Amino acid sequence: ARLVVAIDGPSGSGKSSVSKEVARRFNLAYLDTGAMYRAVTWWCLHTQVDLSDSDAIVEATRSVPLDMGTDPNGERITVDGQDVRSEIRGDDVTNNVSAIATTVPAREVLVAMQRQIVADSGHRMVAEGRDITTVVAPDATVRILLTASEEARLARRGKQLGAAASSNLKDQVVGRDAKDSTVVNFTEAQDGVHLLDSSELSMEQTVQGVIDLVIR
Ligand code: CDP
Repeated sequence: ARLVVAIDGPSGSGKSSVSKEVARRFNLAYLDTGAMYRAVTWWCLHTQVDLSDSDAIVEATRSVPLDMGTDPNGERITVDGQDVRSEIRGDDVTNNVSAIATTVPAREVLVAMQRQIVADSGHRMVAEGRDITTVVAPDATVRILLTASEEARLARRGKQLGAAASSNLKDQVVGRDAKDSTVVNFTEAQDGVHLLDSSELSMEQTVQGVIDLVIR
């Protein structure tokens, strides 16, 4: 049977770890849409697309040779045959990804790709990002906005990056969310979207919170 779980939230809310674990528990596919925005950003940087030229961004997004895996047990992201899993988490990509995310026609291209991936899963998937509950899969079985206080989000992202954490971590987290939220609203739950605040919850408790919403 169809079971689509849509999870949105800001940077450092724990969406990715939680979504992956929920996918494993229900034997669902998993889609990290943020990784797609990152992969397009990597491709634009790699092919020297001028990020102030929105037409060039849209053209690069239409033609990106992206292969996106959906196995929650092992990430597969290649662009033009190259494994970009670590490259897309680097500072170059993180500091430029909002240029792609705020280019509306590029979003439309990515949203269409994402809807196709959900369909290809047989509508059995956990998909996470910023606009899954509202744009990509507003018809999902369960829609959740996963939030956390700014303090909790900064602490989690710092811990995740460890020694690789950049000195402008706060700008990367809070500043990027501010830029992104000019085009997509992931700061308040829309009608029918469950709000789950993970500030005071462990990863396991947050996973359980999502599971409770799925099985109720
Ligand atoms: O690393 P973090 O959790 O902060 O972000 P991510 O989920 O990897 O997403 C990276 C970037 O992609 C975000 O900052 C947004 O600019 C963009 N994004 C988006 O616009 N819409 C989505 N559905 C997912 C990500």
